Amino acid sequence: MFCHPKFMPFFQAPKLLVQAIVICSSLIQVQCLNFSYPSFSGADANEFVSLSSLIINDVIEVSPLITDASGRVLYKEQLKLWDKLRGTKSSFISTFVINIRPQTSPGGEGLAFILTDNPALPNDSGRQWLGIVNASTINVNNIVAVEFDTRKSDSEDVDDNHVGVDVKNIYSIKQEPLAGHGVNLSSGEDITARIQYDAKSDKMTVFVMLTRTGQLNIGNPIFTVELDLSENLPEDVFVGFSGSTGEHTQVNSLKSWNFTSFEVRVKSRVNLLWLWILIPIIVIILIGGFSYFLFRRRKNRIKQKDDDELEIQQEIQRSSSAPQKFRLKELIAATGNFNVKNKLGSGGFGTVYKGILRKEEVAVKRIQKNTRRGKQDFIAEVTTISNLHHKNLVKLFGWCYESNELLLVYEFMPNGSLDRFIYRNTIPNNLYKTLNWVTRHNIICGVAKALDYLHNGCDKRVIHRDIKSSNIMLDSDFNARLGDFGLARTIQLNEKTHYSTKGIAGTPGYMAPESFHTGKATVETDIYAFGVLILEVVSGRKPGHQNEQNSYNSSIVEWVWEQHRLEKLGDVIDLQLNKDFDADQAQCILLLGLACCHPNPYERPSMRTALQVLTGEVAPPSVPAEKPAFIWPAMVPTIGEEMDNSITGGQLTTTTELSGR
Ligand SMILES: *[C@@H]1O[C@H](CO)[C@@H](O)[C@H](O)[C@H]1NC(C)=O
Ligand SMILES: *[C@@H]1O[C@H](CO)[C@@H](O)[C@H](O)[C@H]1NC(C)=O
Repeated sequence: MFCHPKFMPFFQAPKLLVQAIVICSSLIQVQCLNFSYPSFSGADANEFVSLSSLIINDVIEVSPLITDASGRVLYKEQLKLWDKLRGTKSSFISTFVINIRPQTSPGGEGLAFILTDNPALPNDSGRQWLGIVNASTINVNNIVAVEFDTRKSDSEDVDDNHVGVDVKNIYSIKQEPLAGHGVNLSSGEDITARIQYDAKSDKMTVFVMLTRTGQLNIGNPIFTVELDLSENLPEDVFVGFSGSTGEHTQVNSLKSWNFTSFEVRVKSRVNLLWLWILIPIIVIILIGGFSYFLFRRRKNRIKQKDDDELEIQQEIQRSSSAPQKFRLKELIAATGNFNVKNKLGSGGFGTVYKGILRKEEVAVKRIQKNTRRGKQDFIAEVTTISNLHHKNLVKLFGWCYESNELLLVYEFMPNGSLDRFIYRNTIPNNLYKTLNWVTRHNIICGVAKALDYLHNGCDKRVIHRDIKSSNIMLDSDFNARLGDFGLARTIQLNEKTHYSTKGIAGTPGYMAPESFHTGKATVETDIYAFGVLILEVVSGRKPGHQNEQNSYNSSIVEWVWEQHRLEKLGDVIDLQLNKDFDADQAQCILLLGLACCHPNPYERPSMRTALQVLTGEVAPPSVPAEKPAFIWPAMVPTIGEEMDNSITGGQLTTTTELSGR
């Protein structure tokens, strides 16, 4: 039953598993010598070696009923007590019922259970020798006996009613009077005895009781004695009984006998039992340890997640107008589990999906997991936008941080991003219409208003850091809406005027030349990017690459400036407009664009000025015919020259590591 751990309560399993394995391991041992005689009636005499013993009716009379006699009866097959070659030993249980009837008063002498390699009955082994040894074979015979002695015939005997274990001679290494156990060997009553030998622990345990008192209580032996039979007996032994009479006589009879033995592996004294115990313990420890490790990791993760969520929530709610918090379930349902069919675009550390949330069209931005700055950007974007309210900024409805998902919910922009309209020719099967001049002008004005608001219009100065056509969204009326505040950073006015990070971020083509030296985002770098955007929208050309100052020449800025030098600025205007534009306005905007892209950040107009130029309030800044060389550190313009850094006030000194996006 212990072998079926599935029936056990789980919490007990480890302890019981060990027990089960120990018990199972003892049960799977090979049974070797095994026989049972509930009685000897009809027993085959050939199954025994009988030496002066007789099978009479249903009992065996071990010794003849004459004075000074001895006799033996042994089972014919030998027991393999131990096997050096195979590294095994045998445990056994010998259970039998004896009956001793004194014929004189008192009777004599006694009976013994014996194990010996020599079945021969020693001469003159009657009287006190119990058929075990004789006066001359003491310490010579290979014999171990458990004696049931009914005579105190030797000074070594405790009394005339005791059980003892004799090794190689008649003297007991352990003996115990039976009177205290309610047994009188000479009473003529049936007596049940059990000799149990455990080869693993080298212990012999002896049980004796009156048969009529019922079942043998294995928890209550007469004694247990340490005894290694393999040290005292040869490998193969006979098992049986011997008995004797002296000047007094008694009938020493055996009424039943059950013998069972088990082979036990004990090779090279490495107790296999320990392995059986240790292996499961090690396994349990490993499993336990691993489970604990997983548990802790999971707990830490949950804790980390909770901490993150709390941190984000606190961070977001610290901002004055906290946006709504959505459930992940809701957003999954809204976007069809972020179905690719609903994908609007990607960039800015995430992918944007269209969704229907509470019957309203929304854009859901799913921040890329495991991005180095995902969380930081998330907080930046949520906190930044939620504090900003301007008609040219994309509205943030809410956010969600659950199951490690960072999500932002914006108002849906039906017309998508500006770049798709500008580069409509480069996109196959483009369904986007060409934006007319008025729309383009309006878009530039919208972006300028948004940037002016960010730089000068709100409590905290915000640097967008990633102005580009793909971040300009168009609403249903083609009004520009500045979006993607993933890189935006808030700056306290009058505190500092730039935001410094370890690596600069932005999009190649829109990055001001000094940013490669300073690694800083400033209002001037935003203005530079705005200048590039103007040139892009008016010309319909991509900004080109300018990762380093060396290749900077191939940029849109370089190209437009060259046309300006050649006084052919009109040639850069997008041919798709079919010459349908306000030439003066176009000239003015292009000059503004170039001015914003001035290599010297101090020479760039502020957004406020730019806006005034766009609305026609002031004339465009003068742009030198030759594009000035980029000089670093930049020269602060001399007093008297037109300058406008009262608001921008850039401090462009420190150089940090550089990394594009
Ligand atoms: C003891 O028994 C052995 C073997 O049977 C025998 O040779 C020897 O003579 C006996 N000794 C005595 C004193 O009877
Ligand atoms: C044991 O039984 C015998 C026979 O009945 C009797 O003579 C003897 O006194 C008993 N011994 C004890 C200790 O009771």
